[in-house]
Amino acid sequence: MKTLAIISQKGGVGKTTLATALAVAAEKDGKIVAVFDLDPQASATFWKDTREADTPAVVAIPPSRLQHVLKAAEDTGCDLAIIDAPPFAKDIAFEAAQRADFILIPTRPAVLDVMAMTKTLELVGHYNKPAAVVLTFCPIQGREIADTELAVKQLNAEIAPVRIHNRVAYSRAQQTGLTAQEFETDGKAAEEIKQLYAYACMHLFPTKIEATNVVRPAKLTASRS
Ligand SMILES: Nc1ncnc2c1ncn2[C@@H]1O[C@H](COP(=O)(O)OP(=O)(O)OP(=O)(O)O)[C@@H](O)[C@H]1O
Ligand SMILES: [Mg+2]
Repeated sequence: MKTLAIISQKGGVGKTTLATALAVAAEKDGKIVAVFDLDPQASATFWKDTREADTPAVVAIPPSRLQHVLKAAEDTGCDLAIIDAPPFAKDIAFEAAQRADFILIPTRPAVLDVMAMTKTLELVGHYNKPAAVVLTFCPIQGREIADTELAVKQLNAEIAPVRIHNRVAYSRAQQTGLTAQEFETDGKAAEEIKQLYAYACMHLFPTKIEATNVVRPAKLTASRS
């Protein structure tokens, strides 16, 4: 089993939205997946409560139980665990980072978010785990994206070669316990999630991805060649 943690010290950057969407993408890819909700706000769990489908499993747990629960998930045949971490809680972010095989750090392209991203990168860097910043709530145009990408580069951090734009499909889907890709199957948000899932899989399941020939985003191919 592999573990993907979605961590940001900033609130409202799309952590839960990505955790649930990536979980549904993993299911579609044939994986047994569970979301572990470490956030006292329990947004992912609330999303599951409003969802008609029985899967993916979403389990709200106290962070102190994470190690045990991950082991139990692995023993029962889970392929992928996704941790949805809360904002502001440093100790919980440490716990999530420690257990992760790969970490996504959602970040809005805005100056205060870059400050929070820097703190989150410092925090996850403590465990030296593979991590990447993923830009969320991106406008269609604007210099903020280039500025934020430059800030990530200057911190020698990796940036996901997929941008998540500000799209109503993400929030509307959640009203009925869906993900953006279920809400608008052929929509642009659905394509973004597909690409982000493929990128996360390159880190989480590298051999399998090479074997199944999933398209590599150009930037990543270049950086690994
Ligand atoms: N790319 C997006 N475009 C538009 N709306 C979005 C996008 N991503 C998330 N949202 C909406 O923004 C709000 C915050 O998203 P979400 O709950 O995923 O953030 P979060 O980082 O988990 O927040 P918290 O820190 O409170 O846990 C939600 O209402 C969600 O529907
Ligand atoms: Mg959340």
